[in-house]
Amino acid sequence: MEKFYVTTAIDYVNATPHIGHAYEKIAADIVARYHRMHGKDVFFMTGVDEHGSKVEKSAHDAGKTPRQFCDEMSAKFKLAWQKLNISYDHFIRTTDDYHEKAVQALFSKLLENGDIYKGTYSGLYCEGCEDFVRERDLDENGNCHNHLKPPKKVEEDNYFFRLTKYKEKIKSWLAKCPGAVRPEGRKREILRQLDDPDLTDFSVTRSRSSLTWGVPVPGAEDQVIYVWIDALSNYITGIGYPHDPEKFKRYWPADLHLIGKDINKFHSIYWPSMLMAAGIEVPRQVFAHGFITVNGQKISKSLGNVIDPVALVDQYGADAVRFYLFASTPFDNDGDFSENVFIDKVNAELANNVGNLLNRNMTLLDKYCNGIVPNCNPEHTLRSQANAIHVEVNKHMEELEFAKALDAILALSDEANKYFHDEQPWTLLKEGKQKEGEEVLYTCLEVLRRVAMNIYPFTPKLAADIWYQLGYDDDIAVIGDRKDDDFLDKIQPGLKVRNTGPVFKRIEAAEGCAKK
Ligand code: MF3
Repeated sequence: MEKFYVTTAIDYVNATPHIGHAYEKIAADIVARYHRMHGKDVFFMTGVDEHGSKVEKSAHDAGKTPRQFCDEMSAKFKLAWQKLNISYDHFIRTTDDYHEKAVQALFSKLLENGDIYKGTYSGLYCEGCEDFVRERDLDENGNCHNHLKPPKKVEEDNYFFRLTKYKEKIKSWLAKCPGAVRPEGRKREILRQLDDPDLTDFSVTRSRSSLTWGVPVPGAEDQVIYVWIDALSNYITGIGYPHDPEKFKRYWPADLHLIGKDINKFHSIYWPSMLMAAGIEVPRQVFAHGFITVNGQKISKSLGNVIDPVALVDQYGADAVRFYLFASTPFDNDGDFSENVFIDKVNAELANNVGNLLNRNMTLLDKYCNGIVPNCNPEHTLRSQANAIHVEVNKHMEELEFAKALDAILALSDEANKYFHDEQPWTLLKEGKQKEGEEVLYTCLEVLRRVAMNIYPFTPKLAADIWYQLGYDDDIAVIGDRKDDDFLDKIQPGLKVRNTGPVFKRIEAAEGCAKK
């Protein structure tokens, strides 16, 4: 069975999850569900990044030990993902014992082969970026232009990773595997960075005097492994490196690392270099997505526009949130969340377009066909369109063009609504034109069947509910092996439908936002 290993960035636990974190996890979930549906052996990993000075400081400010604080915060992330129906296979915490041991093993290996060496660092460090910065990264007030805070001057004995040895190798990798970093613009950014002489060996440890909450360097207790080597290696330790070689072999290399565009350098330069140094295969693809703004503004605590995904799901349901975020935004661009636009879009598409199509057909089936899928075989272009929809949807899904995939599905449903409206099956059936009326219903049911299957990765509950109403008892999550054209072609005559009412209730009014 073909495997597919998809990961997300692991989030710092210094703040509770917001809609931006949720965006990426939902994207990974959509990908995971899509591939599972196609019969692949999927492993989907997400988790949290618990070490580092930011987390340590937040714990201190909250009056907790780092461990207590991390336990509480990671539980919050897990709860949010559970509410959003994120079907991860493993949730990694960088404080997990197996992870810490594996990080030390990896560190020792790189030290032994000379790709990690001891040196002295002196320069500027931005805690927000967890990265060393240069003068030219500062604004006119001397602040880091990403985090708007002044970096710290540090001079320390640290261990360094010999990145310079791998720059050319990374270039050859990108030349050989053009799709390895996507989208194109992000790959070009990486190629520019690789040509920058300022991209040099980087420090992979901090002295214990500046960082205590982290994995100790084996054999050098005054040094702590800092963020990147610890965090990035989650992608291999979480699938068994080095303690479960069988599992590791089964899933590595990752098929897709989904990340935010701000951490592209770490994933597309540092990470593959570290892997090459350790003699491990590089990932097949890194995809750097855009960010979600709220009412056009960057999400930030100080602007007070942090949207709590849990509150949003409690108010509107997971499907609505999942759908909106991907229906409205091309995945490689920035997108915006505004509650009014959200409500309008969800009402228009899930309640009116898809929901009504189901409901009006169910009502007529109950009234005129004893709730049974009629036995007919109408010839209509809408049927052939329905039966071909997966070709277009799959093409977009493989390219992570989620908005285009959804557009295609919704356009099909919209067509079916127009057809229903034009043919007026309620009149046909009332006037005793049973065959003609049944043919319209049958055609619409077939569209609905295809809509449910194709929309499933985005809105799993809605899809399962449509599936149930159409009379199916099998699990929609696993019926999508689309090679079986015969099975796929047909809505099954004779099935008893289950008209349990509207599958998606209209959202009536904005009752205040789920802001914190
Ligand atoms: N916690 C870091 C961040 O959110 C790193 C995430 S991804 C990792 O920016 F692979 F580097 F861990």
